[in-house]
Amino acid sequence: MIEYFRRLGHQIEDAWRSCHYDEERFPDLVCEHLRKDPPADRIALTDIYDWIFGSHHGLQQPQLARLFGEPPILLFDSSRFYIEVLFWRTGTTHIHDHGFSGAFYVLAGSSVHSHWSFETEHRLSSSLRTGRLALESTELLAVGDFKPIRSGDRLIHQLFHLDAPSVTVVVRTRQDTDRLPQLRYLYPGLGIGSTVPDTLRQRRLILLDGMLKGELEGLTTYLPNLLSDGDLESVFWALDMLNLNRNRVERAFFNQCFQLARRSHGPVVELLWEVCVEQLRVRKVEQARKRVRQPNARFLLALLMLMPDHGSLLRAMRLREPEGDTLEHIERYLKQAGGKGLWEFELTGVESSIFRGLIASHDRDQILSAAKTSAGEELSGTAEQTSPDQILGKMAESVLLEPLLSESPLRPSLTFPGD
Ligand SMILES: [Fe+2]
Repeated sequence: MIEYFRRLGHQIEDAWRSCHYDEERFPDLVCEHLRKDPPADRIALTDIYDWIFGSHHGLQQPQLARLFGEPPILLFDSSRFYIEVLFWRTGTTHIHDHGFSGAFYVLAGSSVHSHWSFETEHRLSSSLRTGRLALESTELLAVGDFKPIRSGDRLIHQLFHLDAPSVTVVVRTRQDTDRLPQLRYLYPGLGIGSTVPDTLRQRRLILLDGMLKGELEGLTTYLPNLLSDGDLESVFWALDMLNLNRNRVERAFFNQCFQLARRSHGPVVELLWEVCVEQLRVRKVEQARKRVRQPNARFLLALLMLMPDHGSLLRAMRLREPEGDTLEHIERYLKQAGGKGLWEFELTGVESSIFRGLIASHDRDQILSAAKTSAGEELSGTAEQTSPDQILGKMAESVLLEPLLSESPLRPSLTFPGD
C-alpha cells in the first residue's frame, strides 16, 4: 500500500470512530484531513503507476460490473470506507447524486464542475421521478481543490475533465442506506436509478439492441410489447435505444412506438421524448468532441454538450475567458474546432453575421438584412454559393449550437413523434 494513503486512511478511521461512524460527519472530517496534509504535496502520478505495476499491493482491486473512472484504482480499504483514485482521459460524468458520503480531491488536471438542483413533481417509484432539473452554478477545479460529497440530493453535480488525464482522489463511505437509490438526472427533468441494475431489463435491452441493429428477429413484436406492458423505466430505456437507432427503422414504426407508449403510460411519455432528444444531442456532441484535441475547442464542445442554455453557457465560458467579448471568444473557439466534418461553417463575413444574429435571438428578417449589409459585394460574387437564407436554416438547426440558440425564435420546435 502507498504509505501516504495508509496513513491518511488510518487517521480518518480514528477520527470517524470517535464520532460513532456518523455518515453526516464524514465529509467535513475528510475535508479537514485533506486540508491538513494534501495529497498533491505527497503523491505524484508516477507513485500510483509504480504501485499498480509493482508486485506488492496489500489489497485486492474490486471486481465491478462497470468501472467508474478510466480506471478507478483502490488505494485504501477499510470496513466502512475506502479511498480510490479515479483517472479520467475523455470521461464526463452524468448529472448524479450520491448514495454515499465523503469528499473528492483534484490530484492532477482540471475539471469543470457544475451543481444542479432537482425539484420532484411526481415520484413514480423509488427509482424514477419526474421534475425540474436546473443548473445552479459552474466552477473550474484545479489541482489541490477538494469538495465534500453529501449524500442524497444535497449534492447533484456533474464533472467534465479538461485535461488528460484528470485525476481525482475520492474518500467515501460504502453506502448511506438512508440515501438510496443513487439517481442519475436527465435534462429536462427525469431522475432515474443508476446503481442497482434490473437484471431482467438488462437482458431484454441487449436483445432489443440486436433487433434494432437487424441482427436478431422480432423487433416489430417485442418492442411494442415492451412499450405497452413494460415498467416505465424499461419503456424509457427502450425508447432511448429506439431514438438512438432511429435511422435504422421506418419512420412510421418509430412514430407508432412513441404513440403506443403514450397511450399506455400517459403524458409522462412526452417528457421521456424530450429526454430522449436531449440524450441523442449530447451523444452527438460527445462523439464530435472525441475527434478534437485542440484545448479551446474541447472546452467549448464540453460546454455545448453540458450547458442547458444560452445564459449558462456564456457564464461558464467566462470562467475561462473573463476578459473581452465572450461571443468573440466563442467564435474563435468554434473556428478552432472546425474541419474534419465537425463544423461546416467558416464563421467569416455573412456566416459570422448570421451566427451573431441567431445568438442575439433576432428574427429572420433582421438577421438576413444584417447579413446583406455586412457582406456587401461579397454576396453579389457568390451566386453559386449557399444563400444566406440557407445558411440561416442550417445554422438554426445545428445540433452543436443548440444550447447557444436556446432563446432564438428560429430554433425548430420539438413535436411528439406522429403528432
Ligand atoms: Fe459525484
